[in-house]
Amino acid sequence: MGQLEGKVAFITGAARGQGRAEAIRFAEEGADIIAVDVCGPVETNIAKPSTPDDLKETAHAVEALDRRIVTQQADVRDYAALNSALQRGVAELGHLDIVVANAGMWSYGLSEEITEEAWQTTIDVVLTGVWHTTKAAIPILKQQNTGGSIIMTSSTMAIKGMQNLSHYVAAKHGVAGLMRTLALELAEYNIRVNTVNPTSVNTDLIRNEVGALLNDVRLLSERVTKLQSHFNQADADIKNILISTTKITGRAEKIEKVELTPADAPRQIG
Ligand SMILES: NC(=O)c1ccc[n+]([C@@H]2O[C@H](COP(=O)([O-])OP(=O)(O)OC[C@H]3O[C@@H](n4cnc5c(N)ncnc54)[C@H](O)[C@@H]3O)[C@@H](O)[C@H]2O)c1
Repeated sequence: MGQLEGKVAFITGAARGQGRAEAIRFAEEGADIIAVDVCGPVETNIAKPSTPDDLKETAHAVEALDRRIVTQQADVRDYAALNSALQRGVAELGHLDIVVANAGMWSYGLSEEITEEAWQTTIDVVLTGVWHTTKAAIPILKQQNTGGSIIMTSSTMAIKGMQNLSHYVAAKHGVAGLMRTLALELAEYNIRVNTVNPTSVNTDLIRNEVGALLNDVRLLSERVTKLQSHFNQADADIKNILISTTKITGRAEKIEKVELTPADAPRQIG
């Protein structure tokens, strides 16, 4: 018996790449699949568009494993379309257990050169699309009262910066915040919420000039890491952190200990 026998998984961006791989792997473990993808171009996305045939191929692969699959073309930016795809899938397959918010895209450019359209599209797909996916799924999971698992495909760029990708990096950092908040909001319903943070995965997303660019910028990143190492963890109290910011760059420090002496305490003015 598979580890996911009798479960139903809703996966966005399932026409190809990681989404398809997850659909097949979950089906191998016994799950039925609700697979959604835009199956067409997304403005400013540097990756070549997926197609309806790609989504059909995912469906054939799942069916070849004797599992059921409901496919639907929908854009994660369009909440109504996404919600209706999920409702249809649940009506056909009976229930919902696993949600994989995986659809993604990107483009590149220095922060000051990214166009308004590229910035907004990346935030809309990579961050808002994930929120839409959870917004549609949560009421169903809560109503079933059988727990559940929400997994967001984030990125190592949710935990560090990367030159030429500030819109994508900002969106993935946003996904981390959404995950942490939902984990708190949904714990009492036994619904777990996590991200996976891949480095490079050999999919169509990176088989283009951005993939090549990433190899170059990793060398540059090593210089920033050296600058960051000036910060000494032993100094981790609030005053020393503020002083250390003259030497560090690109860190969001977690401040564990805040001890104000009477001399530091804010004075009343007037
Ligand atoms: N490939 C990598 O190196 C890598 C690394 C870290 C994180 N990721 C993340 O992994 C996830 C999956 O990407 P992948 O590597 O499989 O790339 P991919 O381009 O092969 O697959 C992404 C899928 O998402 C779909 N999609 C894009 N915009 C959509 C939209 N608005 N609505 C619905 N579907 C949409 C695409 O059509 C495509 O089928 C993405 O969130 C990506 O950011 C990828």
